[in-house]
Amino acid sequence: MCGIVGYIGDKPVLPLLINGLKRLEYRGYDSAGVAMIDQDKIWYKKRKGKIAELEVEINGFDLTSSVGLGHTRWATHGEPSEKNAHPHFDTEHKIALVHNGIIENYAQLKETLKAEGHVFASDTDSEVLVHLIAMCYDGDMAFSIRKALQLVRGTFGILVLSTHEPDKLFAARRGSPLVIGIGENETLVASDGSALVEHTRDVIYLEDNEMAVVNKHGAKVRTLQDTKVEKAVEKLPYDLVHLQKGGYPHFMLKEIFEQPETVWDSMRGRLLVEEGNAKLGGLQSCIDRMIHSSRLILTACGTSWHAALIGEYLIEKFAKIPVEVEYASEFRYRDPIISRVDTVLAITQSGETADTLAAVREAKQKGALALGMCNVVGSTIARETHAGVYLHAGPEIGVASTKAFTSQVATLALIALALGRMNQLSAEEGREIAQALKQLPDQIRQILEQASHIEKIAAKFMHHNHALYLGRGFNYPVALEGALKMKEISYIHAEGYPAAEMKHGPIALIDDQMPVIFIAVKDSVYEKVISNIEEVKARGGWVIAVVSEGDKACAKLCDEVIEIPYTIQSLMPVLTVIPFQLLAYYTAVMKGCDVDQPRNLAKSVTVE
Ligand code: F6R
Repeated sequence: MCGIVGYIGDKPVLPLLINGLKRLEYRGYDSAGVAMIDQDKIWYKKRKGKIAELEVEINGFDLTSSVGLGHTRWATHGEPSEKNAHPHFDTEHKIALVHNGIIENYAQLKETLKAEGHVFASDTDSEVLVHLIAMCYDGDMAFSIRKALQLVRGTFGILVLSTHEPDKLFAARRGSPLVIGIGENETLVASDGSALVEHTRDVIYLEDNEMAVVNKHGAKVRTLQDTKVEKAVEKLPYDLVHLQKGGYPHFMLKEIFEQPETVWDSMRGRLLVEEGNAKLGGLQSCIDRMIHSSRLILTACGTSWHAALIGEYLIEKFAKIPVEVEYASEFRYRDPIISRVDTVLAITQSGETADTLAAVREAKQKGALALGMCNVVGSTIARETHAGVYLHAGPEIGVASTKAFTSQVATLALIALALGRMNQLSAEEGREIAQALKQLPDQIRQILEQASHIEKIAAKFMHHNHALYLGRGFNYPVALEGALKMKEISYIHAEGYPAAEMKHGPIALIDDQMPVIFIAVKDSVYEKVISNIEEVKARGGWVIAVVSEGDKACAKLCDEVIEIPYTIQSLMPVLTVIPFQLLAYYTAVMKGCDVDQPRNLAKSVTVE
């Protein structure tokens, strides 16, 4: 949510900032701005809309400055507009600031500052920060920033530049990530590594309540209480090629097509096919505590929450440990009953989702074992949990999550298998599951070969305004995920339900204008789903179904079918979701939607 980038070195900063902002644009894209020191003054440009519009605006400016910062915004306080775009400035225009996060007490602070003569130019909460720093300024920028931040309630990742100390940048965080890239005679700061990787892979992650004073030779980090902190330089786990479209028209399509490899990357070295078991290095130290937990609580948001629902079915089936699934946003505020005998597993692609992070902190506070399942290496949740497991799916840039979901389900299956083998699952059952897991990448490949068939279905689907997605058992969460994918990128209203729930209400919606999308694969609930399809057909609904390879009987009943290969019932979601990702993708493209950056959304929801 919002992207920050800053640079200090020897190169002209403007093109570097624009390039960095483009890499971060997936985090927020309603307005953008840059500021830099130019001849003892702060030069800036802001623009409503995408980075490309800002780029047009600055075209022709040939500035030699080599220190600056930029921001791409996802609006929280104040509409998307030029005045609300970052950077923000103090009244004397000597300090520029960009901010990610939310300042909760901004209204009171703003009143106080106004009374002291500070003039505000925007409706944002962020602007109070720069005025506070100016108010606290006493000749030492680092001191003033620390002092100002003591007055603030809320979350922030900030980057500041000032004509008072023009050869430095100042970065501080509480709740919103910042990472510092250490190059040769150049230092960069960004809200995620994707803006750094083409310059350096050597990075320092700032922790909460830390502040860095940055110059072109590196960064000095102290706490906001002014205690020195020694930071380790770590390596970013990917390079530039992972951040490019690789010949695909959109990141989302690239990421859908990467899934045979990314699902395997999540299992590589962990799946023990011969033994019928799994070994997850990151969880090894706490697997005994997990198995003896009174229950596992899986907590997450959005697509990751759908993966958690499948995780519940998997762990209960294989390991016979009671599992509960909670929206992180509910978990954090409803004062849940958790104790030392519980394990809480937070599932999050970004590792930065504010609600999921708060749920982790709540679980730790109450003594539970707090585990993380993240994709982004070094992310806040990965670092704050007691232990965890990475997805190894590589950077996911498309705002709609695809490859992270299938990797989450595959990794949850590995956890369920490992726990199951310590509990009641026989070696033979373990081997059957492991064999099925091993086949998933090839089976995904087989489904991807039907992309053009699915594209043709999308050409008919795109004319509808509503859709119902129905599935049962392990495929019920896939129905939810299919509907979410469709609505977030094509803006077609879609709802997912357990198929049997249809007759308790949604059936009222069905007429010949209503597409109903079923998952009707050959599993233990197949017959029941077929009855549900009959009920829809009897009311004139247009039925698209994901069916098992060669199921002619079901095909006869439906208007459109997409066939998928056979796997065991518990792993079906990894396959059944693929047609839904493609259907959403092609529908959105045909409708002319911005697939990688859908309206109002942002990757990584770091505010509540
Ligand atoms: C949907 C989507 C979101 C995220 C949700 C949680 O396509 O991407 O629903 O799944 O915001 O994000 P993470 O997994 O980063 O915690």
